[in-house]
Amino acid sequence: MSDYIHTYTSDEQERLFRQGKFLENIVFDFFDLKPFGNIINGGITKLLLEKNKDANITSIDINKEQIENAKQNINAKRVNFEVGDIYALTYADHKFDCAFICWVLEHLQDPQKALDEAYRVLQVGGKILLTEVYNNSLYFYPEKCTTILKYFEIFNVYQREKLKAFPHIGPRIGNLLFKAGFKNIQVSNRAILWDKRNPSARNAMMDYYIELILSAKEILLHEKLIDASMLDKIEQEKEAFKINKDAIFYYAPFQAIAEK
Ligand SMILES: C[S@@+](CC[C@H](N)C(=O)[O-])C[C@H]1O[C@@H](n2cnc3c(N)ncnc32)[C@H](O)[C@@H]1O
Repeated sequence: MSDYIHTYTSDEQERLFRQGKFLENIVFDFFDLKPFGNIINGGITKLLLEKNKDANITSIDINKEQIENAKQNINAKRVNFEVGDIYALTYADHKFDCAFICWVLEHLQDPQKALDEAYRVLQVGGKILLTEVYNNSLYFYPEKCTTILKYFEIFNVYQREKLKAFPHIGPRIGNLLFKAGFKNIQVSNRAILWDKRNPSARNAMMDYYIELILSAKEILLHEKLIDASMLDKIEQEKEAFKINKDAIFYYAPFQAIAEK
């Protein structure tokens, strides 16, 4: 089994592309990409290309299949896709003026080392743009999605204890950036609250989020931490949530901008 909770199947690669688009406003509203000419990132390259028409982008991921899939989906001269380890980048000091890291640190055993490495490859004055999960923040009203929350707890404990990663890393990103040497650090808690004011957006978010967390179901089934009846109940709770006119979806990821 993979040591990456979302797995590397082709369905999951396709889900990541859809995720980038679905969360476009949440991820990109906080960032101005226009000043940057030379960006290093892992994934969500298609949107970076759209948002900055001039930048050259170096896009790395440790997984070869992720990179091959991205290459097939994105054909642009301005992108250089490479298999690479965020802990040990093969680039010279000061090569980039922007490092864009999105939904990655949570999967690492040593997120500090990754930020130290991002600091190294940035020019003085270069910026890091960071987006990270805070899984403790998930809340549903009415408080009837008990199986979903139980599954999510199993997901988070597996990621934390078995994979030694950090599903609650969001509030720590300011400290990690500080320790890496970054300055002018701005951290923002990007709360997403969907309620009866926009039921279709709320339900789309619920569908998206359940699909996201169920991307770990094969690993959790294999480890016998969940069973098929739990998955059925999750579907039922999701559908009941969506027809409840008072339902609320709340989640609060974190973002940060900092300068070398
Ligand atoms: C949730 S995905 C996010 C991908 C992309 N940023 C996006 O938003 O679509 C996390 C990615 O981090 C990659 N990853 C994990 N450990 C890594 C490492 N040490 N170096 C580079 N990439 C890594 C995984 O292979 C996976 O593709």
